[in-house]
Amino acid sequence: AHVWRGVLREYADRLGVTETSTVVTLGEGGTPLLPAPALSRRTGADVWVKFEGMNPTGSFKDRGMTVALSRAIDHGAKAVICASTGNTSASAAAYAAHAGITAAVLVPEGKIAMGKLSQAVAHDGRLIQIRGNFDECLEIARELAESYPVHLVNSVNPDRIEGQKTAAYEIVEQLGDAPDFHFIPVGNAGNYTAYTRGYREEAERGISTRVPRMFGFQAAGSAPLVRGEIVKNPETIATAIRIGNPASWHLALEARDATDGWFGAVEDDKILTAQKILAAEVGIFVEPGSAASVAGLLDRAEAGVIPAGARVVLTVTGHGLKDPHWGLRQTDGTQAEPTVVDASTGEVASVLGLV
Ligand code: F0G
Repeated sequence: AHVWRGVLREYADRLGVTETSTVVTLGEGGTPLLPAPALSRRTGADVWVKFEGMNPTGSFKDRGMTVALSRAIDHGAKAVICASTGNTSASAAAYAAHAGITAAVLVPEGKIAMGKLSQAVAHDGRLIQIRGNFDECLEIARELAESYPVHLVNSVNPDRIEGQKTAAYEIVEQLGDAPDFHFIPVGNAGNYTAYTRGYREEAERGISTRVPRMFGFQAAGSAPLVRGEIVKNPETIATAIRIGNPASWHLALEARDATDGWFGAVEDDKILTAQKILAAEVGIFVEPGSAASVAGLLDRAEAGVIPAGARVVLTVTGHGLKDPHWGLRQTDGTQAEPTVVDASTGEVASVLGLV
């Protein structure tokens, strides 16, 4: 059996890691790629799900953070800083803790999921809530990194994209080739850019025969790439992707055009329906932001854009336990109230309809 050693060691040659390079790892990457028969049935395509919630801090950010923190240490950094809708802050705080340095994290007040807030605090991140949105947090983080000795670990740092592209390597290995379509949630569009780069490298190396059409999905209330303009006050229940001015805007447009790709918008209710379908019919629980890729596939299949039998991979970016209260939401919008009975086998049997 092969023991997974994290993306820097697994892809050392591809990521320029040498004997003397620092490696800060929590064992990220090597995540499952799972068939999703229920989604294949619903769409007529051959659908697979790359479950990035299985990374050490529960999101894909860890793939980029291992590279960013390792290089920060090699540059002598004593502190890193990031703006975040939650997952980047959790990941930065964890990797900084492992490396023995400080992570300062700026988050929009009241707009990040409790699980992510809890992670950042547990890992002793210097968490600061900003009265503003993510885009304002990122502006401040960039300015601080320019003026003070703190190392920026948002995806505008190219080390993050380098690490995140390894997910595409894994998919090509897991499937034996690249898929026809790849669906992915989009906020800053850093991950969209990273996957495109990873797939292109695999095709250039002759490991795969194609680069998939890259389909990225934003929440309808924060869809600047779809609208073609900055969204000043982005709104969505999918707080992970509540971003109005994507940092990787231009790289993402280039990636879309080069892959015959597409950016679409999905309404919040469609995101929640997709989250429920994935949990109840496939067995994968993701946070709402991650379900944007699933909602996107259902939308495009309905529009007749996905040929029957086409091979489709969906990235689901973060674990459902990050933002668990959505799991208790029922399709009519009310909260589930689990049944309570006395400690009696007969009563349980009767409630379950066994007698
Ligand atoms: N899905 C999840 C769960 C995310 O946390 C993010 C981004 C994305 C998708 C979008 O990725 O920005 O590369 O397009 N979260 C960042 C954060 C902004 O701060 O955690 P992207």
